[in-house]
Amino acid sequence: MSEQYRLNRIEDARELVAGAGTLVPVLDGQQVPYVNLDNAASTPALREVLETLNDFMGWYASVHRGTGFKSRLSTQAYDEAHAITGRFFKANPATNTVIFVRNTTEAVNRLANRFPFGPDDVVLSSFQEHHSNDLPWRRRAKVDYIAVNDRGALELDDLERKLRRRDGKVRLVTVTGASNVTGCVNLIHDIARLAHRWGAQVMVDGAQLAPHRAIDMRPDDDPGHIDYLTVSGHKMYAPFGTGALIGPAATFLQGDPDLVGGGVVELVTHDQVVWTGLPDKEEAGSPNVPGAVAMARALLVLDRIGMAAVARHEAELTAYALRRLPEIPGLTLFGETDPTRVRDRVGVIPFAMNGLPHGLVAAILGYEGGIGVRSGCFCAHPYVLRLLRLSAAESARYQAAIMRGDRSDIPGFVRASFGLYSTPADVDRLVEMLLVIARGEFKGTYRLDAHTGAFTPEGHNPDTATYWNWD
Ligand code: ALA
Repeated sequence: MSEQYRLNRIEDARELVAGAGTLVPVLDGQQVPYVNLDNAASTPALREVLETLNDFMGWYASVHRGTGFKSRLSTQAYDEAHAITGRFFKANPATNTVIFVRNTTEAVNRLANRFPFGPDDVVLSSFQEHHSNDLPWRRRAKVDYIAVNDRGALELDDLERKLRRRDGKVRLVTVTGASNVTGCVNLIHDIARLAHRWGAQVMVDGAQLAPHRAIDMRPDDDPGHIDYLTVSGHKMYAPFGTGALIGPAATFLQGDPDLVGGGVVELVTHDQVVWTGLPDKEEAGSPNVPGAVAMARALLVLDRIGMAAVARHEAELTAYALRRLPEIPGLTLFGETDPTRVRDRVGVIPFAMNGLPHGLVAAILGYEGGIGVRSGCFCAHPYVLRLLRLSAAESARYQAAIMRGDRSDIPGFVRASFGLYSTPADVDRLVEMLLVIARGEFKGTYRLDAHTGAFTPEGHNPDTATYWNWD
C-alpha cells in the first residue's frame, strides 16, 4: 500500500477516490467541481483500486487451467479475492462459498434459481425491496411481503405474523440490509433470529448496507446468522463488473449449476456430466478476474479505513443534511427525518419539493448546480408508492400513463446519497442550489420529454469531448 493513501481522518477520504471534485460544465458556461450525491446508484473507484488494477494487468492471464507463471499468479489472486471477500463479511469458510457474479441483481437471480424450493414454498420479501430482491423470487415461489410503516421501516411484528400464518411454509426471508430509497437500516440479525425460529433461511441484499456498515454474517450456530449475502462491487468503490453471492456450500453443491458451460465440470461425455466443486461450479465461463481483484482491493481498503469510521462519518453527515434540508421552503423529507436517529439509517435521503416534478429538480441540480442526484422510483415502485401514500386510484392512473408511454407525471422523489468521501461542503452546495430552486431563481428553460420523463434545458450543449474522448 502506498503511503499517500494512508488515511488519518475519514474527512480526508476525498483523496481516496478517483474524480472527486472534477470540474464539470454548467448551464451558465462556467465550470464547477462536481458533487456526486448519487452514490446509492454507483460509487466512484478508489484510486488504490485503479493502482492495483494497473499493476495486476501486467500479470493477468487465464485462470485455473493455464500452466504459465502469469496464469498461476492470476489464479492465486483470483482465489485470494474469494477468500478476502468471505473474510470481510465474516463468512465461515468451512461451510460457505463465495461466488463471484456481476452484481447483486445477478446474485439474487442465482440464488433464486439454485434454492431448492418445493411446490408450496413461500419466500417472504418486503415492501422495502428493490425489484432485484423481488422479481427473481416471483418466478420460483409464492412471494409475500413484510409490511412497512409510514416512515418506510419494516414492521417486524408483521414478519412474525406472516411466519406464523404460513406455519413452516416460508423457506426464505429475503430483505435488504438498507433501503436504496430511504436509507432505512434493517435489524438483520433480529430478522434472522425470527426466521430461523420458524425454520426459514435468510438472505440479506447487502448492496446498500455493505458500503456503509460492517456486515458480520456470524457463525452458523448463531441464531442471528445471515445465511446468504449479496453485494455489488460497483457500490463499494470497485465498479469493474464484479459482485458476490455468499452462502452455504450445501445449497450450491446439490443440483445443476445455474449457468452451464466451460469451467463447471470434472468430466463430460455425450451421456454424462460430472460437475466440479465450488465456487467454480457456479462461475461458468472465463471469470472477470480483474473485477474480482478490484473488489477485493476495495474491501481491503475499507477494512483499513474501518467500517466504524465510515459509519460514524456518514452518520454525522446525514444528521447535518437532515438539519439543513428543512431550511428549504416547500421541501418534504421522506423516511426517517429525525437527525438524532441516524444510527437507524444510511446516508440516502429522499425528498420532494412542492409543486415541482422530481425530474425537474434533479435536472436543475445537475445542469445548473453540477450536483449529481437521481430521481424517480429507484427500482422500488411498490415502496415508493407506499411512502407517497398513493391511493389505489392514483396508482392505477399513473400505471395507465406508463402503459401509454407517458412518463410526464410519474410519482417519485429526488434522492441524495452519500459515500465515505462526501463532505459537509457537498451538503451545503445541495442546500444552496435547492434554495435557488425554491426561490424560482434557476436560469434554464426546461423541456420535458414525456416519453422518458427527463427534463433538459434549452441551449445547453457542452462539448463533452473536451472532458473525455476516445483519442
Ligand atoms: N438501483 C440502484 C439505485 O438505487 C441503481 O439507484
